[in-house]
Amino acid sequence: MPDDFLVAADLTKSFDDLRAVDGISFTIRRQEMFGLLGPNGAGKTTTIRMLSTVLKADSGDVTIGGHSVTNDSDAVRELIGVCPQELALYPELSATDNLMFFGRMAGLGGAEAKEATRSNLDRVGLLDRAGDVVDKFSGGMKRRVNIAIALMSRPQLLFLDEPTVGIDPQSRNHIFETVLKLRDEGMTVLYTTHYMEEADRLCDRIGVIDNGKLIRLGAPKELKSEIGDPEQVTLEEVFLNLTGRSLRD
Ligand SMILES: Nc1ncnc2c1ncn2[C@@H]1O[C@H](COP(=O)(O)OP(=O)(O)OP(=O)(O)O)[C@@H](O)[C@H]1O
Ligand SMILES: [Mg+2]
Repeated sequence: MPDDFLVAADLTKSFDDLRAVDGISFTIRRQEMFGLLGPNGAGKTTTIRMLSTVLKADSGDVTIGGHSVTNDSDAVRELIGVCPQELALYPELSATDNLMFFGRMAGLGGAEAKEATRSNLDRVGLLDRAGDVVDKFSGGMKRRVNIAIALMSRPQLLFLDEPTVGIDPQSRNHIFETVLKLRDEGMTVLYTTHYMEEADRLCDRIGVIDNGKLIRLGAPKELKSEIGDPEQVTLEEVFLNLTGRSLRD
């Protein structure tokens, strides 16, 4: 399929005798917002780490933009931006200096890095705090800096791993707005969450993941239609119906 930008085929990863990811296959289309929805320990981060060239799969195959993640990882890295679940930034530097640093690391020239810093701080709603040291920021603001950092390399595919966990409502709204803006700009996004309402609101398609397996894949409406009237049913009920458990257990 020409519009499949990411193709993951039968990915597996074990840690000792734990199968963290167990034969996962899916595709992400260009300009799609794809959600991986699953409870703690489901295998979301392990999957993202394999897709983003950080962790080698035990078996299976991933291509992004036609490039193999294992054989052509440099080409893949030029296409992707990663906002990891754990913050990855320099707390002692200002927001601007963090973005400048990562921009230069990504190979941007000085003027380019400066312009990208400004536009990415604007994207996450932090232009007015550009000069402040990140250590003074709230958890949500730090998360927004981390998203801006992930955008500095001008990725075509952005990985956002639980961007809204444990943050204040204001930052959460900013992150929604940022993601919706990115979507309007045509960014392709893989978004992981265990919040149903986020997945429902933001994602074109959702893969439901549990115990390392992808147990359902489809548009939120399709998933809901499988068990009832999509206007009435919630994704929470879809998960409960699929697994017999609540997502928040
Ligand atoms: N480096 C590792 N060594 C050993 N076990 C690991 C390692 N990384 C992950 N695991 C285990 O693999 C399973 C899947 O973990 P993973 O972090 O992928 O889940 P997740 O869906 O991202 O969960 P969360 O919502 O808590 O972030 C878990 O049981 C976890 O403890
Ligand atoms: Mg995780």
